[in-house]
Amino acid sequence: RDIPRLRDVFAADFPIGTAVDRTDTVGVPAELAVQHFGQITPGNAMKWDATEPAAGQFTFAEADALVSFATANGMRVHGHTLVWHNQTPAWVFQDAAGQPLTNSPEHKALLLQRLESHIRAVAGRYAAQIYAWDVANEVIDEYQPDGLRRSRWFEVTGLDYLRTAFRVAHEVAPNAVLYINDYNTHLPRKREFLFSLVQQLRAEGVPVQGVGHQTHINVERPPVAQVEQSILRFANIGLQQEITELDMSVYGNAVDSYATVPPEIITAQGYRYRDLFDVLRRNKQHLSAVTMWGSSDANTWLKNFPIPRLDLPLFFDEQLQAKPAYWGVVDPS
Ligand code: XIL
Repeated sequence: RDIPRLRDVFAADFPIGTAVDRTDTVGVPAELAVQHFGQITPGNAMKWDATEPAAGQFTFAEADALVSFATANGMRVHGHTLVWHNQTPAWVFQDAAGQPLTNSPEHKALLLQRLESHIRAVAGRYAAQIYAWDVANEVIDEYQPDGLRRSRWFEVTGLDYLRTAFRVAHEVAPNAVLYINDYNTHLPRKREFLFSLVQQLRAEGVPVQGVGHQTHINVERPPVAQVEQSILRFANIGLQQEITELDMSVYGNAVDSYATVPPEIITAQGYRYRDLFDVLRRNKQHLSAVTMWGSSDANTWLKNFPIPRLDLPLFFDEQLQAKPAYWGVVDPS
């Protein structure tokens, strides 16, 4: 209980955040979040399926609750996410007869109209409370020749969904820093596709203001030197950067599933978190925040992804006690 608060430990470096769902905002998990973290990212509550499950019918109870929790506890809110290929209801991509939208001019206009009205409602509602938005999530696919994910958004509109999303978000939430967010941004091929897209959009005047590195990594990969290279790649071009969804799976190449995670893996995770945060601290001038994707191993999404299995990726264990990972970043010597 009287261990150092992470928010104090990193006070001279960067704000440290955690992803939260509603269950994390009551009882002991809430105490842990408030004690250690200076900002939150809603893990699910602001996604399209949560906020506009049916056309024009907005549901903000969960999102409002998280914003109130943050406000009551002096935490900043990082919004997540306005346009994504996942957790988007089927109706968004269907015509009135329930048929898939095509790339005809009529369907394209319809989809961009739906996107615009969604962002007006969601980003507009929280314009005063949210300091940054993940406007676009996971739009790069490095296995495509042009690096652009073939989502329904892309198939119907090309890159216009990104132009619309950033333009409208900037209009209704002019003070929010607008991010493009992705995973595996530390892999050189994917990083370069993201870099090119960001440069292209900015050259057009699209208000992309930040790059979010999700940083869902594991105990083996990628090397922390590669994380540093990607931060430096996007540094000094007038963009902000954040580590937006950090966690470290215990599964590398060798093992698919543990019944019990060997203690030496948890120890190795502690050293690797130490080395990673050495890099992050060294580059603090380039980082506007670092957010953990969850607070404790009791509530990690990796219990269900990519398959149901035990995983222990965070600073606090399933009993909410500090792990070697915590001590690795708090006392790096
Ligand atoms: C995850 C949530 O944590 C889970 O609760 C949900 O079931 C699936 O989505 N990249 C992202 C996040 O951008 O939105 C994802 O969050 C994790 C991967």
